[in-house]
Amino acid sequence: MNFELKIIDETKQGEAFAGAEKTENSKKLFLESYGCQMNFSDSEIVASILNREGYNTTLKPEEADLILLNTCSIREKAEQTVRKRLSQFKNLKSEKPNLTVGVLGCMAERLKTKFLEEEHLVDLVVGPDAYRDLPNLLKETEDGRDAINVLLSKEETYADINPVRLGGNGVTAFVTITRGCDNMCTFCVVPFTRGRERSRDPHSIIEECKNLWSIGYKEVTLLGQNVDSYLWYGGGAKKDFEKATEIQKATAVDFSQLLDFVATALPEMRIRFSTSNPQDMNVSVFEVMAKHKNICKYVHLPVQSGSDKILQRMNRQHTRSEYLDLIKKAKETVPDIAFSQDIIVGFCGETEEDHRDTLNLMKEVEYDYGYMFAYSERPGTPAHKKMKDDVPADVKQRRLAEVIALQGALSRKRMSSYVGKIHEILIEGESKKNKNQWKGRNSQNAVCVFDKTEGQKIGDTVSVFVHGNTQGTLLGRAE
Ligand code: SAH
Ligand code: F3S
Repeated sequence: MNFELKIIDETKQGEAFAGAEKTENSKKLFLESYGCQMNFSDSEIVASILNREGYNTTLKPEEADLILLNTCSIREKAEQTVRKRLSQFKNLKSEKPNLTVGVLGCMAERLKTKFLEEEHLVDLVVGPDAYRDLPNLLKETEDGRDAINVLLSKEETYADINPVRLGGNGVTAFVTITRGCDNMCTFCVVPFTRGRERSRDPHSIIEECKNLWSIGYKEVTLLGQNVDSYLWYGGGAKKDFEKATEIQKATAVDFSQLLDFVATALPEMRIRFSTSNPQDMNVSVFEVMAKHKNICKYVHLPVQSGSDKILQRMNRQHTRSEYLDLIKKAKETVPDIAFSQDIIVGFCGETEEDHRDTLNLMKEVEYDYGYMFAYSERPGTPAHKKMKDDVPADVKQRRLAEVIALQGALSRKRMSSYVGKIHEILIEGESKKNKNQWKGRNSQNAVCVFDKTEGQKIGDTVSVFVHGNTQGTLLGRAE
C-alpha cells in the first residue's frame, strides 16, 4: 500500500512481481498489477493458480509466454495507463505469435467483450471472480480462440487457495476477508466491477494468518473494500443474510468478532485492517483495538467530503457530524489512534462552501495521512447517469492542491507529535536512501528510519526513540 502523502499517480506503470517458482515449471508468466491493494492480493491468487498450471513468474515481459495485466477502473487515468501499456506489448506480440496477452480485474469486468473487440492486442479477458477458470480459458487461447469469463459470483472468496506471496518483504502480508461492495456510492465503479459483497470463512482467514506466522511473517493487513461490513454466516452474499437459517444467524461472525479471533489466535502478529467505512464501523471495533496490544492503532477511514449536501449526493450513508462523532468515540476508546482519509474534490455540485467544509473537517480530525483525488466521472455509475460533472477541471485542480497542502501541514504536525517518544518499529527492510539504516512503521503506520545496530534483522520489532521528523517520515535511533 502507498503510505506516502501524495495523489496516487495513475500514470505510473503497474508493478510486476516475481515469487511463484517451481523447478518443474517451464512456462513463464509476466503479471503486472495496477490500482488498489485488492488487485495486488488477487494477483497472488492468480499466480498460485497458474503456478499449478506450469507457469513461473518473470519480471521480463520479453521472455514471457503469458502476459497478464490486473487492471483498475477507479478513475479514467488508471484505464488510460493500462491501454498505453497494452500498446507497448504490440511489438512483442508480433515477434512472438504464441504469446498470450490477457486483461484481469476491474477493466476486464467493466469492458467485457468490448476489450476483445476494441483492443485487438488482447486474447484473454477475466473478471475478478473468474480466476479459477484461468486454466480452461488458457486452453482456449492455446487453440487460437479468444477467451472471456466475466461472471460475477455471490460466493467466490478463493478461501481455499493459498496465495503465492509476490515480491513482498517476507514480513508484512495482505489477507483478503471480504470481496465486492454493496454500498453504491454514486461516484464509484467498484460495485459494478467487483460485484456483491461476501465474506470469507473465518477459519480459513485464521489458517492463512497462522501459516504466514509459521513462515516468518510478522504483520497481516485484513483486506476488503469495506471490512467493517464483514459478516460470515456460512457463505453467500451479505444481501442474502435475511434468508439465512436461525442457527446461521445466531452463530454469525461480524468484523469486531473476527478481529478479536485473529488477534487472540496470533498474539504476537501485528494486525492491521483496511478499508473502513464510517457507516459500518462501530464502537465495538475500537473496543477490540483497545483490548489487543497487537492490533495497530491506525484506521483508514475515507470521508470523501466534509459537506452534508455532497455526502448525500455521493450516497454516503453518514453525515459530517456522525463521522466526527465516530472519530471522537475512537479517540476516547483508543487514545493513541491515528487516522487517514480518502477525499474526492470537485464532485457534482460541489461549491466553494462545500469545499471549505471539507478543509474544516480535515482540520478537526487532524489526519496522519491522506489520499486525495479530483472527481473522475465513471461510465455507468449513478453519478454519471443522474448528475452533471459540473466543476471545471481547473477548479478541481485548485481544490485538490488545497486539500493536499492542508494534509501536508496536518501530517507534519502529527509526525512531530511522535517526536521525543519511544515507538515499537517493525523492521520491514533497508531504507532506500541509506543502506546503513532500517525502515519500518510504528503502530500508527508512520514510516520510521533509524541506524542499523548489530544483531538486528528484517522482521524484528525494535524500540526506537524518535528524535525528528519530515512530513512523512520519523527519524529515530534504536534504544
Ligand atoms: N472502499 C474502497 C474504496 C475504493 S476506491 C477501498 O477499499 O479503499 C478508493 C478511493 O478512490 C475512494 O475512497 C475514493 O476516494 C476514490 N474514488 C472512487 N471513485 C472515484 C472517482 N470516480 N473519482 C475520483 N476518486 C474516486
Ligand atoms: Fe466504492 Fe463506496 Fe464501496 S467508495 S468500494 S462503493 S464503499
